[in-house]
Amino acid sequence: MAEVELTGVGGDLDAAVADLAERFRAALEPPVRAGAELDSATLRARFDEPLPEDGMPVEAILGQLDERSAGGLAGSTGGRYFGYVTGASLPAAAIVEAWTAAVDQNVGMWPLGPAAVELEQVTLGWLADLLDFPSASGYFGSGATMANTASLAVARHWFGRKHGVDVGVDGVRALPPLAVYGSVELHLSDHKALRTLGLGSGCVRAIPIDAAYAMEVEPLVAAIERDLAAGVEPAIVIAQAGSVNTGASDPLDAIADVCDRYGLWLHVDGAFGAFFRLCERTAPLVRGLERADSLAVDGHKWLNVPNGVGFALLRDGDLHHETFGGSAGYLTPGSGANLHELAFEASRSWRGACVWAALKALGRSGVEDLVTRCCDLAAELAAIVEEHPRLELAAPAPTNIVCFRYVRDGIDLEEANRRIQDEVAAAGTVFHTGATLEGRFCQRAAICSWRTAADDVRALAEEVLRVGDEL
Ligand SMILES: Cc1ncc(COP(=O)(O)O)c(C=O)c1O
Repeated sequence: MAEVELTGVGGDLDAAVADLAERFRAALEPPVRAGAELDSATLRARFDEPLPEDGMPVEAILGQLDERSAGGLAGSTGGRYFGYVTGASLPAAAIVEAWTAAVDQNVGMWPLGPAAVELEQVTLGWLADLLDFPSASGYFGSGATMANTASLAVARHWFGRKHGVDVGVDGVRALPPLAVYGSVELHLSDHKALRTLGLGSGCVRAIPIDAAYAMEVEPLVAAIERDLAAGVEPAIVIAQAGSVNTGASDPLDAIADVCDRYGLWLHVDGAFGAFFRLCERTAPLVRGLERADSLAVDGHKWLNVPNGVGFALLRDGDLHHETFGGSAGYLTPGSGANLHELAFEASRSWRGACVWAALKALGRSGVEDLVTRCCDLAAELAAIVEEHPRLELAAPAPTNIVCFRYVRDGIDLEEANRRIQDEVAAAGTVFHTGATLEGRFCQRAAICSWRTAADDVRALAEEVLRVGDEL
């Protein structure tokens, strides 16, 4: 075959790959800082140049990116990053993800990624097995937001079918007035999903929570009864396995009973909390998860794969396929499944490969250890907080998230806690974020990195105390 003469594909590939190997290896070490040190304007200035007129040699490009990004990378691959709910990246997952970029498979259609499609289907089966969820079908999307949206699209299709409406053809305008139920702590992504699907977040009945931040069942039943009396069709309950603020889970078994009684779809947003099933102490908190009609989970949180991976598991494979299925004259099938018929995207990357790699690297026992260790570390942090006179828990912490406040007489606690979060982040030894619970800002640590160890959670408590005491 003749070599292609094209600017941009030339250069010294061996030198480029050697450079990649060196930089990649360095990137697999823990980051020096837990948070970025440069501000937006400085970072923008580093990249802000006119579109290059001419290309540069391949072996020089990664170096430029690496150097210009220095000081501007979040330290989320390290053990001292407790912000949001952020997993690190397991080396096996990062390596496989990098390789998938080079082989560049398109998982949307079987002929465009035959091995990729087969591996993803097997990996989804492993995940269903790991989480003990009886799914008939699944899909790798970009994260829990996409998994929630795809799952709720199937729920919407199911609801339409129940009422003699084909939503795919006639749209949401043909549906009867409907209601969706979720707690006041329901994640923004679920509201966004409902907006995107044309149902609107206005159809959500915000159900109160108890002292453990879990949805209360009696008000849920009362809301359903109120809707029935008003001629509104109760349609879907969105329960959470792991609420983002506190890590609390809704009482899934009792909610599944309610869904059975009234004939509602149960969707569980288990972005990280689905993994509570793998720790003996937290498993009872998500009992009943297996009764959901659909489940959304993230890969890039507790499975510690690179960002951009989540998955939906659906109990009814036919409904899943009916919701998104379709073809066109140019789409020539092969001998396997066409994954574009299982969600919104047509072309997409081989996301499932890094999940497969994580599961191969850890095995079932490794995932169980990881989840259990993170929950144990959260318990350790909660104990430090409870024992210290200038710290107090802001919410129960039975899982992997700890919300707490710095407290001292004679200071404005609200302002102090905001400053502490800000100044700890700026110092860069550890990184955590905040949450506002019942109108009060608190420090919040989510523990789900494979790298986090006991001295890391202790370092967080020490930093909060150091900054608080200096105020
Ligand atoms: C409960 C819950 N649902 C959904 C999401 C959204 O996940 P993603 O950012 O992967 O889209 C999160 C993220 O923190 C979450 O905690």
